[in-house]
Amino acid sequence: MYIPPSSTSPSAQTTTIMSLKTALISYFTFFVVFVDLTLASKHHVINFRSPTLYPESLTWDPSADHFIVGSHRHRTLVSVSSAAAVDTLISDLSLPPNTTIVGVSLDHHRRRLLAVVHSTPPLPIFNALAAYDLRSPHRRRLFLAPLHDPTTDRPIANDVAFDFSGDAYVTNSVGNFIWKVTPDGEPSIFSRSPAFTSHPVDQSLPHSFCGLNGVVYSRKRLPPRRPIKHRQNVQSQRR
Ligand SMILES: *[C@@H]1O[C@H](CO)[C@@H](O)[C@H](O)[C@H]1NC(C)=O
Repeated sequence: MYIPPSSTSPSAQTTTIMSLKTALISYFTFFVVFVDLTLASKHHVINFRSPTLYPESLTWDPSADHFIVGSHRHRTLVSVSSAAAVDTLISDLSLPPNTTIVGVSLDHHRRRLLAVVHSTPPLPIFNALAAYDLRSPHRRRLFLAPLHDPTTDRPIANDVAFDFSGDAYVTNSVGNFIWKVTPDGEPSIFSRSPAFTSHPVDQSLPHSFCGLNGVVYSRKRLPPRRPIKHRQNVQSQRR
């Protein structure tokens, strides 16, 4: 998740105001909504404190039974239990100072934590995917794959997903493409599909630079899109 630094649109303003409020009181709330129909009306709220964390990204670790939250300000990932216990899971001081953990994803089967690292201006340009081994005692870093974009000066590596072979996919919100990073940390450009830029964008609007953002991996093939004509036929047959 990338929240642009300045705001003019109402929705962005709300986000910024919420971020500031969050920052001031160093206070963050999670709403965990159970989708089980029998529990549909119930939710569980976790209130926790972590000074200057500025939560930016999160994922759930089913085996450790806690959330993993990436910081906007620090080179850290913390765990947050349902009882609101906060622990520093990873503090990687070899990353550039004040860099952001923009996206985080847990490869549960390999016990590998994938973290997208991005430095916002005025910090020097930095975009990378880091992988940490959660089985090792000090959560050893497995790789730090630098992510470059030959077409823009300042790409934004943003969100990350992975497939069953362990390849990771990272969105570039400025260059509008997807990087692929192999389990050994070898980066390449995976897709520059014209679909990513097919929707017209008014370049004069604030934050219009921010394109491809979140990413998920689906094992299922998407069903082919039904032609409208076919749908009409189905309706007429029903009549
Ligand atoms: C990092 O942030 C701190 C606190 O805001 C600031 O004092 C420091 O200059 C920053 N470092 C860099 C390299 O920007």
